[in-house]
Amino acid sequence: MSKTNLPTTQRKRVLSGMRPTGKLHLGNYMGALYNWVKLQNEVDEHGQPKYDCYFFIADLHALTTDYADPSAIAENTREVAVDFLAAGLDPERSTIFVQSRLPAHSELFTLFAMFTPLSWLERVPTYKDQQEQLREKDLATYGFLGYPLLQAADILLYKPDFVPVGQDQEAHVDLTREVARYFNSTYGHVPTLPEPKVLVTASPKLPGTDGRKMSKSYGNTILLADPEAEIRKKLKTMVTDPARVRRTDPGNPEVCPVFDLHKVFSSGETRLKVREGCTTAGIGCIECKSWVADAIVAELAPIQERRRIYEADEKLVTDILEAGKVKAARRAEQTMHEVHAVMGLASE
Ligand code: TRP
Ligand code: SF4
Repeated sequence: MSKTNLPTTQRKRVLSGMRPTGKLHLGNYMGALYNWVKLQNEVDEHGQPKYDCYFFIADLHALTTDYADPSAIAENTREVAVDFLAAGLDPERSTIFVQSRLPAHSELFTLFAMFTPLSWLERVPTYKDQQEQLREKDLATYGFLGYPLLQAADILLYKPDFVPVGQDQEAHVDLTREVARYFNSTYGHVPTLPEPKVLVTASPKLPGTDGRKMSKSYGNTILLADPEAEIRKKLKTMVTDPARVRRTDPGNPEVCPVFDLHKVFSSGETRLKVREGCTTAGIGCIECKSWVADAIVAELAPIQERRRIYEADEKLVTDILEAGKVKAARRAEQTMHEVHAVMGLASE
């Protein structure tokens, strides 16, 4: 029987990362974290965790766009770590770490760079898209072109079975698989780097207070850390069905961004009340918004309670990230050892 380097543990491994954009908003939460916490908490028929989870903050990726002014990266990384923990990622169950603390990410990126054709990177759709969108920044850099290759290194370093990401990241996981395939067919005779599967996480459409997609750059967000009064205030001024001008005009929930929030956060019962009340002008928008505020405040209550613990104890967060680094490094070093061997590099 041939020797194989494939991971042999039973538990499927899950890995994902997030760029440190500062305090996270509801869109970040529903698009990623919420699903990560769910994966972390899934158990098999014996009550054992189903997945071995790795979640990290991709601060090197932040540097690919913010290299000219990196002053916010460290603080943003910290904020995201607190949000990870507040949202329910549990350091007892998940390995939580900061990318740049593990040099293996940078090293594997360097080694992949040796064989990755430029054309693979140039044709990744986010490359041109992002360059256009972030015109104020000069993104004609080597690091920015390499962004998805760094992501491939992030992933393959841990040999995950699944990478839960939003649909916008699918092309990056495809590239990762391509890199793994080339690597495996070129170096060594056994698959050293298994091809991970993307786990496209359902990300519900989440509008911001101006009706556009919730996004930090639009300034229309509701933060996980916003106090209740702030949440209610933001929702009060949220745009509604533009055709519903007066209180006596019936509205159409299907074209109202407030109703999109109801779809995500409210109970079926409340949604029914809204449909009925809105279309008959039986309720006003202020009332309708107060109901969605209730639902969001309730969803965030346990998150904010945990946040208080981590915010009050800076050392606790530092220790968690340090422990995560040590755990992640063990896996990463094993992979690097195998990679060194098959790529012809000295092992001593
Ligand atoms: N590019 C991802 C994003 O913008 C973040 C990321 C970096 C990532 N490395 C990763 C996600 C590895 C999954 C796996 O959201
Ligand atoms: Fe939108 Fe609610 Fe107003 Fe209807 S009642 S327009 S769903 S905010």
